[in-house]
Amino acid sequence: MPPRKIIIDTDPGQDDAVAILLALASPDEIEVLGITAVAGNVPLHLTAKNARIVCELAGRPDVKVYAGCDRPLDRELVTAEHVHGKTGLDGPVLPDPTMPLQDAHAVEFIIETLRNEPGGTVTLCPLGPLTNIATALTRAPDIADKIQQIVLMGGAYFEVGNITPTAEFNIYVDPKAADIVMKSAVDIVIMPLDVTHKALVTKPRNDAFRALGNAAGVAAAEMTDFFERFDKEKYGSAGAPLHDPCVTAYLIRSEIFSGRTVNVEVETTSNLTMGMTVADWWGVTDRAPNATFIGDLDADAFFDLLTERLGRL
Ligand code: BDR
Ligand code: CA
Repeated sequence: MPPRKIIIDTDPGQDDAVAILLALASPDEIEVLGITAVAGNVPLHLTAKNARIVCELAGRPDVKVYAGCDRPLDRELVTAEHVHGKTGLDGPVLPDPTMPLQDAHAVEFIIETLRNEPGGTVTLCPLGPLTNIATALTRAPDIADKIQQIVLMGGAYFEVGNITPTAEFNIYVDPKAADIVMKSAVDIVIMPLDVTHKALVTKPRNDAFRALGNAAGVAAAEMTDFFERFDKEKYGSAGAPLHDPCVTAYLIRSEIFSGRTVNVEVETTSNLTMGMTVADWWGVTDRAPNATFIGDLDADAFFDLLTERLGRL
């Protein structure tokens, strides 16, 4: 099988960085057509910079990186420096990128790529707020039919919220964009907190990253060292959850994940539950299924894959 063509839409973020490293380390399975940055964990100028830092860390300065939307569709931007640090990539000391940022806007790149590639051959992998994706779908509704799949990190049902009591960060930042994506009729796979909170970097797993001894392995370990303090304090968990790498791991080994195809809708009006993903996990409504909501993974297989691939960089 030829590698699956993807666009990674991202707001790096340490866990976004590991997701990108995993994709770039897996050319037999994944061809990264481009990386589009969006405002989220930190403002856009930093996410566009961080995406290029990560490409250079992977030895891939040839990857095309585009800057996209600098704010949500109809809300003020909420950022997450309290989790990711001031730069978004706090932890390792990494050089400023020298590779260029592309001139085109990320939304333009997404639309043009989907129009130019054969239908059903390009998968979108959003790892941050869905502003770029929703803007592309709104501006060019014809692209919906051409998308092979959207595999995204966002939302939560049983785990409820990490930024409010009911909302996960990526969806909360731009609920309107998430609503547009959920209603797009595209084949959607969602990695919510329900599964990503099971992808925990325990100490032995982080030691394995560090023991690789290459720049990518050591950086992944140092990013996790920084990122884990938030979850350890908040949830008392054993380490940092690697949210976004669940998306790229799914493209390589979907069989290690399990979930249900159900109806998922996004709350866009209530101040109390804004950005909540209401997943009909138990099938108690007659609302039509629109997404595969992942609930579990084989965490050991996930970390074996990740460690082996980081070692290739
Ligand atoms: C998501 O929010 C960000 O902080 C992470 O990068 C991840 O995409 C988890 O809620
Ligand atoms: Ca992210």
